[in-house]
Amino acid sequence: MSATSYFYLPSVSVLGAGSLNEIGEQASRLARRFLLITDTYLASTDITSRIRRLLAVKQIDMVIYDKVRPNPTLDSVNEAASLYAETGCGGVISLGGGSAHDCAKAVAVLAANPAPIEQYAGVDRFPNEGAPVITVNTTAGTASEITNCFLLTDTRSNTKLIFEGVNALASVAIDDPELMLTLPRDLTAATGMDALTHAIECYVSTASYKLTDELARIAVRYIFRSLPVAVTDPGDLDARDDMVYGQYMAGMAFGNGGVGLVHATAHALGGLYNLPHGLLNAVLLPHVMHFNKRQCDRRYAELYAAIEPLKAKDLPAGRGAAAFIAEVRQLSKAIGTDIPLHNLGVREEDFETIAAKALSDACCDTNPVCPARSDIIGILKSAY
Ligand SMILES: NC(=O)c1ccc[n+]([C@@H]2O[C@H](COP(=O)([O-])OP(=O)(O)OC[C@H]3O[C@@H](n4cnc5c(N)ncnc54)[C@H](O)[C@@H]3O)[C@@H](O)[C@H]2O)c1
Ligand SMILES: [Fe+2]
Repeated sequence: MSATSYFYLPSVSVLGAGSLNEIGEQASRLARRFLLITDTYLASTDITSRIRRLLAVKQIDMVIYDKVRPNPTLDSVNEAASLYAETGCGGVISLGGGSAHDCAKAVAVLAANPAPIEQYAGVDRFPNEGAPVITVNTTAGTASEITNCFLLTDTRSNTKLIFEGVNALASVAIDDPELMLTLPRDLTAATGMDALTHAIECYVSTASYKLTDELARIAVRYIFRSLPVAVTDPGDLDARDDMVYGQYMAGMAFGNGGVGLVHATAHALGGLYNLPHGLLNAVLLPHVMHFNKRQCDRRYAELYAAIEPLKAKDLPAGRGAAAFIAEVRQLSKAIGTDIPLHNLGVREEDFETIAAKALSDACCDTNPVCPARSDIIGILKSAY
């Protein structure tokens, strides 16, 4: 018998090539003026002018905030929230990957809840439903366009704060693979490994359940099949489409079934060094899997069977699990994300601090093996 489970998702998702064309129709039932939250590069592209035109057809205005940086900060949220209030917006559109979506979801929360945003860090802390948010996703990815959480960096403590709650859900998510054709190889690889990490960590999470299990297994299959193709040939629309669905299913899974120690440690490193979230997950993933293996042989072996059904047949769980970890290492190597931490500027003298931050990160609570500080230091050493 299953226990009671919650499943969160935006009320509308529009997926597939050309889905950006639906933005005017979707926006017209939500507000008359939107704040578009993005970065300077995406603001300068044709996607932004297309969004402006598609909204104008429905007599909808758009104001632009283009200063989001990767690992968005509390300061950028405050700045964008001021612009939202000053210009009389009634909704937010995010254009980009997880950084734009996370900033936008925070701005929408502040539109209906008193500042400062940091008082709402934790679970279900913002009482009022936020302003409507339309997430236009351009990476595959964090799946932040559909999850009920966002992460902001407090640059005073160099810590990533996690905010979670039903009021952090977007109203509409748009996942158009055509918008991802320009994503460079390195970002395709790193963001794709983030999605793979979501699926694998969720599959062994202590909060997973039947629905998240199914989604995570399918996501792993899609990502193994199409991530190497998308990295080798960024213009392959079929591979991009597969990655949209793979990351989306991984997002439905982890957004409801949790992640684990890879994310907890990546958040600690991301807060300290402002390194790309997906790349950190890619680097840590095989090491944390090796650490979790004692508890997860059967589950990892099931994921191996999802990608290699013939080879996995009749294999004992321990060998299936080892084969799956080897596949993850091989994939990461093939797409260039197996970079030692020391090459990313991580300092050994920070290991104690990183381990302490990872232990206090909420994602650590759903890891299948409860780590000690020394375990995390061991993982950091092996990834160094
Ligand atoms: N809320 C959640 O559920 C959740 C989950 C995982 C990660 N995150 C957060 O998401 C952030 C990372 O997001 P991300 O990995 O999507 O990267 P990102 O949003 O930080 O973007 C990285 C870079 O990619 C560029 N880019 C994006 N789309 C592009 C395109 N189509 N063509 C060319 N360049 C493009 C951007 O300009 C940017 O410079 C982190 O802050 C992480 O903590 C949130
Ligand atoms: Fe992630």
